[in-house]
Amino acid sequence: MDRYEIVGGRRLEGKIRVQGAKNSVLPILAATVLTAGRCVIHNCPALSDTALTIRILRTLGCSAEWRQGSIFADSSVLSHLELSSVLTGKMRSSIVFLGPLLARCGRAKIAYPGGCRLGPRPIDLHLDGLRQMGAVVQEEEQHLLCHAPEGLQGARIVLSFPSVGATENLMMAAVLAKRKTTLMNCACEPEIVDLADFLTRCGAKIYGAGENTIEIEGVRALHGCEHTVIGDRIAAATYLAAAAITGGEIAVSGIEPENLMSMLAMLQKSGNEVFWEKNCCCLKAPPRLQALPQVRTMPYPGFPTDGLPLFLSLAAAAQGTSIFVENIFENRYSSVPCLQRMGASIRQEGKVAVVEGGSPLHGADVCAEDLRGGAGLVLAALAAQGISHIEGIEWIERGYEHFCENLTALGAGIWKK
Ligand code: UD1
Repeated sequence: MDRYEIVGGRRLEGKIRVQGAKNSVLPILAATVLTAGRCVIHNCPALSDTALTIRILRTLGCSAEWRQGSIFADSSVLSHLELSSVLTGKMRSSIVFLGPLLARCGRAKIAYPGGCRLGPRPIDLHLDGLRQMGAVVQEEEQHLLCHAPEGLQGARIVLSFPSVGATENLMMAAVLAKRKTTLMNCACEPEIVDLADFLTRCGAKIYGAGENTIEIEGVRALHGCEHTVIGDRIAAATYLAAAAITGGEIAVSGIEPENLMSMLAMLQKSGNEVFWEKNCCCLKAPPRLQALPQVRTMPYPGFPTDGLPLFLSLAAAAQGTSIFVENIFENRYSSVPCLQRMGASIRQEGKVAVVEGGSPLHGADVCAEDLRGGAGLVLAALAAQGISHIEGIEWIERGYEHFCENLTALGAGIWKK
């Protein structure tokens, strides 16, 4: 298995165009199942999860081809309505196929989703919502067996938590349901808006995406369309943080700055000069990073849980005490033991971590346990004195297209070996 070798202490400098958003492309590809036509999706990141989603589409009988960052999908014919654990077990977001399959075909059999180490990730909100729309859902030992005997019906659904996946699944189910659906306490993430934009281009009637309440007027059928996926706000924040932690300077384009405002504000508070214009964020690091004010993860527009491990590494390299509170997932602090081995002073219990920054980080041999925790380790290794080896990079590369090459182009000493 490959690992990264990183020689720390090199200043990162330059420009980078960020990849398309992983968390947009996966639900948008699932949504192509709703359309009886040809869709062209541009700005698709070259990631293993994208490839797996294409495999899922092909298993369902759709055609899907990936050419130079664009995916050409045609779901005119759906011949197979079952997804086995070989496909769903590797990727949590495979569950977002359930709503589209039920809406388009009235039935689906899907093995339970897997592929994540962030702690228990239930799907009760997805299933409760679909049941309220008239679906019969049998939770068997290995898989979900679902059908909608009368077709899906519009409903008023109040989510008990603004889950991103549940909002997406129910929005997709509702676009072909009979009558109007109102989703309340929805997630407001930019990827929800991107999905709604795609569906609207296909002929769906969706009002209020990006707000707490979304109304969807069901239509009889959707047609294909051409759509460009938004930039990846977490990847953009990662490259900005890489420049910040190495005392560097960077311009990240291909991103809507508004989508990462909470992280840009935190970068500013740690002493970086940060400015933005249309589709571009720029950062110039200070000679020494300062401690962060309290970082509390929240649903969008709050500070994103996916950004926490990145800023944990920044805090370890900064002067002073920073406090983190993780409110979304149980196992968000996977990188802490490795950061401690690199010399970071972090006390963590439950959802809270206290980072006493200032002690110099040194290279170490460490292992990524999940995607963003792994990216946090890369950041720490870039700042550390000496050489680090990072194993488990398949986790990291689930979320970052050409990560090693991009960091090398910015001046990092990183090799995949
Ligand atoms: C998505 C993102 C992920 C991000 C997360 C939170 C994708 C592919 N992944 O994941 O990168 O970290 O949003 O911003 O878009 N929950 C329930 N019941 C449910 C669903 C969720 O209790 O039915 C809970 C989860 O356990 C978790 C919280 O709600 O504690 C947030 O989960 P959710 O917003 O659904 O995250 P995902 O859509 O899985």
